[in-house]
Amino acid sequence: MIQRNAPFWDALTAYHTKGVIPFHTPGHKLRSGPFSNIEAVLGSGFFALDPSDEIESLELNHDFEVALKMAEGLAAELFGAEASLFLVNGTTGGLHYLLMPTKGRVLIPRFSHEAVYSAMMLAQGEAIYLPVTYDPDWLIPLPPRVDEVNQVLSKTQPEAFVLTNPTYYGTVGDLRAIIKRVKSHGVLVFADEAHGGHFRFSPELPATALECGADAVVQSTHKTLGSFTQTSMLHANNALWFSKAVQAQRALQTTSPSLVFFAVLDEVRRVLADQGRELVGQALEIARECRRQLGAINGVELLPSYLQGDPLKIVFSLRDLGLTGIEVERMLRIDYNIQVELSDYYSVLALVAIGDTMESIRKLVAAVRDLSQRRGHLGSMPLQRYTMDVPALPPIVISLREAFFKEKEITCLQDAKGKISGNFLTPYPPGVPVIAPGEQFTSDIIEHLLWCHSINWPVRGLMPGQKVAILEDNHGFCRKTG
Ligand SMILES: Cc1ncc(COP(=O)(O)O)c(C=O)c1O
Repeated sequence: MIQRNAPFWDALTAYHTKGVIPFHTPGHKLRSGPFSNIEAVLGSGFFALDPSDEIESLELNHDFEVALKMAEGLAAELFGAEASLFLVNGTTGGLHYLLMPTKGRVLIPRFSHEAVYSAMMLAQGEAIYLPVTYDPDWLIPLPPRVDEVNQVLSKTQPEAFVLTNPTYYGTVGDLRAIIKRVKSHGVLVFADEAHGGHFRFSPELPATALECGADAVVQSTHKTLGSFTQTSMLHANNALWFSKAVQAQRALQTTSPSLVFFAVLDEVRRVLADQGRELVGQALEIARECRRQLGAINGVELLPSYLQGDPLKIVFSLRDLGLTGIEVERMLRIDYNIQVELSDYYSVLALVAIGDTMESIRKLVAAVRDLSQRRGHLGSMPLQRYTMDVPALPPIVISLREAFFKEKEITCLQDAKGKISGNFLTPYPPGVPVIAPGEQFTSDIIEHLLWCHSINWPVRGLMPGQKVAILEDNHGFCRKTG
């Protein structure tokens, strides 16, 4: 295959160039017309390149379906897969397509993204969890270890395992060993690689899950590689499961996907095939320099190397200067017009990618230096340190899917012991659900959530007044807690 071709991009731009008179959807008829505000910002090109995919004609060289297959084939070749799919509903969509056809149990780390949980609501089987462990110093969730996976496999035989590579913080586990172990039990391995699309383009970066033997991976091309938000790719090395994922995509995806999105994925793939190594290499260089300069600032602590998997994720803390990561994020935004990717109690994550320049790094470093000096003048005390006493996983009373759709009522968190949760309660970041729908509140869970609230750690799902959703007919389902 010839990677310098971009068949979908070419088909779409050719349709535009031909100036076809469109008596078909969409209603804007490929013109900005009355939508002058949209045109002023996005230009007329977005309209011109936005036909529906109904119009197909091989003779006219506009068969978008054929062009899409060719484009996906080129992506598969570049990303080391047998087959790929372009996705217009992000990595969320890809995970749904992989998991919807499962019938048995699916093993997932508890820190999995909500997209994995929602995928389990589409699947027929149930989720079983690998409990999360946190680094005691940085309180970030760690990827599972081989022995933890072994322990679960000695007790149960799941149909599939979904790992996350890397975690949101960029940490990676011993992927090769874990995948080998899991596959030796005949279990399918899928990877949520929302943050790992760029791994393919540098030997300095961790291996991709596909390279380590996974059956399929889903990558947010938009997150680390430069396509438009919402666009991702699924790459598979398991023909049977790929065909099931295609069926699921047919059922779940809009029948009117944006051709602009497909064309952008195709063109981004073409550029990456040509310059991916160079672009990712430059981003790595910029990130190295950023880390070096941040590390030289008084009071700035960088994530230690033993936790760092992806060097493009720059995790740092100003806790010795008495600032939480959440405060640093706000100050960077309000005082310096800089927006980071995420923050938590201790740290801030600045994402470097192929779109960054030394100039953007210089601004970040200057802002953090200024912040450090301001705090230094105030003679601030270091931040109070905490240990993370994560409560044990709660008992599962009814399945995630069943609970999700049941009638709910609201109660005070303090009074929820023994009740069955109707919602996820998730301290964010890092976004690890403490309790999920269908699980029973224990004293430890309630205590932990109240502690999160007391230190202003946002808990998604917790309503004003510390109220939570529980199942309406809770008593019918209740099991006694010990
Ligand atoms: C680890 C992880 N998985 C999956 C997703 C979902 O990806 P997308 O936004 O491409 O649907 C995200 C998004 O933030 C994520 O962080």
